Amino acid sequence: MKNSRDGIDILVSEVGPRDGLQSVRSAMPTAVKHRWIAALAGAGLREIEVGSFVSPKLLPQMADAAEVVREAARIPGLTVLALAPNVKGAQRAFAAGVHKLTMPVSASRMHSMSNIRMTPEQAIAEVARVCALREFFPTAQRPGIEVGISTAFGCTMEGRVPEDRVMQIATMLARAGADSIGLSDTTGYANPVQVRRMFKRLRSEIGDRMGGAHLHNTRGQGLANVVAALDVGVSTFDASQGGLGGCPYAPGATGNIVTEDLVFLLESMGMRTGVDLGRLIAARSIICEGLPGEPIYGHVPDAGLPKGFGK
Ligand code: COA
Ligand code: ZN
Repeated sequence: MKNSRDGIDILVSEVGPRDGLQSVRSAMPTAVKHRWIAALAGAGLREIEVGSFVSPKLLPQMADAAEVVREAARIPGLTVLALAPNVKGAQRAFAAGVHKLTMPVSASRMHSMSNIRMTPEQAIAEVARVCALREFFPTAQRPGIEVGISTAFGCTMEGRVPEDRVMQIATMLARAGADSIGLSDTTGYANPVQVRRMFKRLRSEIGDRMGGAHLHNTRGQGLANVVAALDVGVSTFDASQGGLGGCPYAPGATGNIVTEDLVFLLESMGMRTGVDLGRLIAARSIICEGLPGEPIYGHVPDAGLPKGFGK
């Protein structure tokens, strides 16, 4: 299901309930997840990645993914996304009623092996199998399949990841049937020049299957990279409330770009996101309640909105 984009210029895709919660040690209670997701949607976010269908032995924080998807799917107008690395996860996600599935494919072989115990080629073959599986749905209910190519800008284990390799993987994923293929800076290695160059190249390789940018703020370059991606026409950005996030299989990786700061950046540059910043900031209290003691970040929430903002 494609997002209709009614009245918005840039789609902010909230990934806190998945990318954020997978990397914190304690599990947020399911009832608090429901309330948090409802508050995020109530603040105007149109798309939320609510969980992942992975091995519950590896990530017990995500064991309630089906319940969370079912509840989120009742929220009118919200596109509910979940992550699944394999056919088993996709089947569980489809049964729970996800609108879109996101599948992790890493450009780095070492990251791929430690994250999902598959080579990049095996992960691409898994995407092809899942794309075949969703063909059984009537067109109107067919879930979308997207891939963010992890470690696209560099890997904590392998170091430099050749750009040609990233583009080759993107092309293979397009052939496998993925609807949209974006680039993920899992490790916070990207710089704006690289972001501009790679998204430009991605568009020339796969055209309108080019997906969004998933950026981490590990080295403080996140919002600079957003501006670079905007320059070359990227119109979907992942972000997590309070900057929760990381990757349990990319040592040293820290949080996503902060949703509150991203919305502020976009809105103050005159782009419509559909998000009410005041309501978004208010939703932070639910994280503090569900994950006591967990640090959350954000310059805009710390400093407050400038006088007259949004008037
Ligand atoms: N959901 C639930 N259980 C799953 C599953 C899924 N998507 N995929 C596999 N399993 C279960 C299997 O049924 C099996 O269970 P058993 O031990 O009770 O028989 C067990 O997990 C191992 O299955 P196997 O197919 O051998 O997988 P694996 O051990 O090679 O692990 C992954 C592969 C992908 C399941 C695992 O590495 C994983 O879940 N990784 C996710 C990591 C992650 O979320 N990273 C962050 C997001 S990018
Ligand atoms: Zn991430």
